[in-house]
Amino acid sequence: MNETARPTTEQAPPAEDEPGFFGAGYDSIEVRELDYPDLPPVISIERRSFPSPWSVGMFALELSKPDTIGLAAVEDTRVVGYLVMSRFDRAWHLMNIAIAPEQRRRGIASRLITEALDRIGRDPVTLEVRPTNRSAIELYERLGFRSFGLRKAYYPDNGEDALIMWKGDPARAGVPVG
Ligand SMILES: CC(C)(COP(=O)(O)OP(=O)(O)OC[C@H]1O[C@@H](n2cnc3c(N)ncnc32)[C@H](O)[C@@H]1OP(=O)(O)O)[C@@H](O)C(=O)NCCC(=O)NCCS
Repeated sequence: MNETARPTTEQAPPAEDEPGFFGAGYDSIEVRELDYPDLPPVISIERRSFPSPWSVGMFALELSKPDTIGLAAVEDTRVVGYLVMSRFDRAWHLMNIAIAPEQRRRGIASRLITEALDRIGRDPVTLEVRPTNRSAIELYERLGFRSFGLRKAYYPDNGEDALIMWKGDPARAGVPVG
């Protein structure tokens, strides 16, 4: 986990007419560090969210890295969503984000990403997303991510390409853009 990250759970949420307000139900969600005891509910959400879910070992490996930000969205002590973001070289990668299916469209993913972005300052962030995952692409675009091409045959389960997205300048991470 990123030991230098400052806790942001006491921040006041944005008002409804301010940028950063996403949906109803915002107030009852706490965002805190994702930790190993959270992995059973995380795996349950993961399996309901992805055709090729991460294993417990994959989460444990990412959380063990010093340059990983892991966040849990919690309501009434129950984990309802999570985010894992790791730094490789000069860029942060949004590795995983999912919200329990029954808790979607409440602004929880937006809140998790916004809090992670707060922790990394102006460093560029990249991610891969299936071009068919319109809900995720709309979420990312709304938060300022832009498309920068395709990674061919990226997903092993069906051979689907990945859409590469960046927030911030990829050139600052040493990635040439044409
Ligand atoms: C993608 C995902 C993380 C979004 O989580 P969420 O908490 O529902 O997202 P938010 O409520 O913060 O949505 C913010 C905005 O994103 C867009 N969005 C989110 N879900 C959408 C959907 N199903 N259809 C269209 N737009 C959507 C909307 O613009 C939404 O704002 P609005 O609700 O005011 O219209 C969630 O659907 C999920 O867990 N999906 C399965 C896992 C996954 O695909 N992860 C991403 C892998 S790259």
